[in-house]
Amino acid sequence: MAEVVVLESETDAGVLAAASIRRLISQKPEAVLGLATGSTPMPLYRALAESFRTDPLDVSAVRGFALDEYVGLPSGHPESYRAVITRDAVLPLGLTPGNIRVPNGDLATLETAGTDYEAAIRAAGGVDVQILGIGRTGHVGFNEPGSSFASLTRVKTLTEKTRADNARFFDSPDDVPIHCITQGLGTIRRARHLILLAFGEEKAEAIAAAVEGPVTSSSPGSVIQLHPHVTVLVDEAAASRL
Ligand code: GLP
Repeated sequence: MAEVVVLESETDAGVLAAASIRRLISQKPEAVLGLATGSTPMPLYRALAESFRTDPLDVSAVRGFALDEYVGLPSGHPESYRAVITRDAVLPLGLTPGNIRVPNGDLATLETAGTDYEAAIRAAGGVDVQILGIGRTGHVGFNEPGSSFASLTRVKTLTEKTRADNARFFDSPDDVPIHCITQGLGTIRRARHLILLAFGEEKAEAIAAAVEGPVTSSSPGSVIQLHPHVTVLVDEAAASRL
């Protein structure tokens, strides 16, 4: 059963999640973090960066694996998830850039990118804590409805709804890539602790389906019900259909 905590604000949720991650790193300086992109994890990254500022902690050995990446964006594109993770998490948290991996969306190496990524996660000893957001379609990472609970890192096609949601980050909706490479639900399940964050009414349905709905691949977030250690941090709006 997931532990669901309803908080007054995104800021409070960020502070709570940051405290849990800080505790992990204090106990295990080479902790492996599963990093997520999107607006949702920002309060967590901000709270963690603030805690490092006020009470420094050596994070030089912390390792990280991003959940997903677009396929085929030119290297260095500001909206590639490599760039986003660097901007939103790696730099503000003072993580060591060389310790952070993002799935490789280059077309030239795509055939082996998924298995290479799985091997790297295994070699690191697995993910200690996976930070997760959830999309309006219920996707986690880029695992859209229909993704197998056993799936590993692989190339997927984005739904039109997700492409439309993410169009705000690009000059034109047509610029949003059609394909992505994402950790699978099977990869995510292997992380030792999942922290799922969601804020706002637009996430209420996806959260209700993930936490209380049937465990089905039509609702990728419901994978959390198969995991022994899950913390769901939501505001009242995102919790409104629970
Ligand atoms: C994106 C990412 C997901 C993220 C989701 C929600 O497409 N691939 O990892 O959880 O959409 O984004 P946001 O947090 O901005 O609502």
